[in-house]
Amino acid sequence: MSINRVTVPATQNIPPEAVYPGAHDSHHPAPVIPKDFEAEVDTVITHYPVSKRSASLPLLHLWQEKFGYVSPEGIEWIAAKLELQPINILELVTFYPMFRQHPAGKIQIKVCRTLSCALGGGYALCDYFRKKCNVGEPDAHGLATSPDGKYSVEFVECLAACGTAPVIMINDDFYEDVSNVKADELLLKYQG
Ligand code: FES
Repeated sequence: MSINRVTVPATQNIPPEAVYPGAHDSHHPAPVIPKDFEAEVDTVITHYPVSKRSASLPLLHLWQEKFGYVSPEGIEWIAAKLELQPINILELVTFYPMFRQHPAGKIQIKVCRTLSCALGGGYALCDYFRKKCNVGEPDAHGLATSPDGKYSVEFVECLAACGTAPVIMINDDFYEDVSNVKADELLLKYQG
C-alpha cells in the first residue's frame, strides 16, 4: 500500500516579520544573553540527543523565566540554537497560552477564573482591575498591560484556594476573598 504525502504549504522560510508585522520594532530591545544562560540552554539541549527539536518547550520556558516574555529575537535565538526555522518556535509560542509575546507590567495581577472563583465574582473582579489599572483589552494570550507598563492583568486557572473565592495573585503574593474594596487597598499597597 502506498501512502500519499500530504502537501503542506511552505512554512519553513517565513521570517517573523512576515508572520506578525512589526515583530522587529523598538518595543523589543535586543536581549543580552548572559553566558550562564547560554550554558544552561546548552545543557538542556544535551538532554534530547535524538532530536534537538524536543528541547523547544523547555527552552521557551527558560527564556520566558529569564527575560519575562518571548520576544521575536528570542524566537530567532532559540530556533538558531535548535537548528530550526523561527516559524517552528513561533507556532509554539502562539499555541501555548502560558507564553507571552509582550512584557508583562511591573505589577502583575492574576485573577483566578476557574469554577469557584468564576461563581464567586472572578470575572467582575478582573474587569474591575482592568478598569482601575487602565490596561485596555487583553492580547491574544489574555494579557492586558497599561500603556506605561506599570500594570498587567490576566486570568489564570485554579490557584488552589477555591473555598475563599475570588482569589488573585499580585506578583508572587496571594490574596483570597478579594472584594472591590480590598482590590483598591491592594492597588494602593503596591503603588508605593
Ligand atoms: S477556583 Fe479559584 S482558586 Fe480554585
